[in-house]
Amino acid sequence: MSKLTISPCVWSDDLLIHHELIDQQHQEIINRINQCVESLNAPHEFSFEEELEVLSLMVFLLDYIVVHFSQEERLMIELDYPHFFAHRMAHTYYISRIFDFKERFKREGLTDGLARDFQKDVIEWLVDHIRREDNRLAAWNQVHQKTRKQSSQS
Ligand SMILES: [Fe+2]
Ligand SMILES: [Fe+2]
Repeated sequence: MSKLTISPCVWSDDLLIHHELIDQQHQEIINRINQCVESLNAPHEFSFEEELEVLSLMVFLLDYIVVHFSQEERLMIELDYPHFFAHRMAHTYYISRIFDFKERFKREGLTDGLARDFQKDVIEWLVDHIRREDNRLAAWNQVHQKTRKQSSQS
């Protein structure tokens, strides 16, 4: 059991990148992260059932992240996005961090170090990624849409 409490990931409109589907998916990821946070923040040692519950919530989270990332990557390919490889590498890194976290939790339970890593590597990383990388992709998408509109009018 950790002495630290993990703070939930807070959605705010400044995380909107103005791409309807991606924005919806980001909110769903945050919901799933917060379900993990809620079960990780149990004020007592985990029972076997609770441990299984945490693990299945992490798998539930990972499943959705994989769907979301492949959606973004498909969009990047369609748009001939110049930062595709860097963005994709960031996605791969994030999946491996969460997978790692799940394995460590299975081995050690929730230690202080793990709680800190979840805060930093799962929650803060995601918020930062949305603000920088996904926003940059959305900006590229908007330029692309505009150019497409203009060339279809001319
Ligand atoms: Fe994203
Ligand atoms: Fe992304």
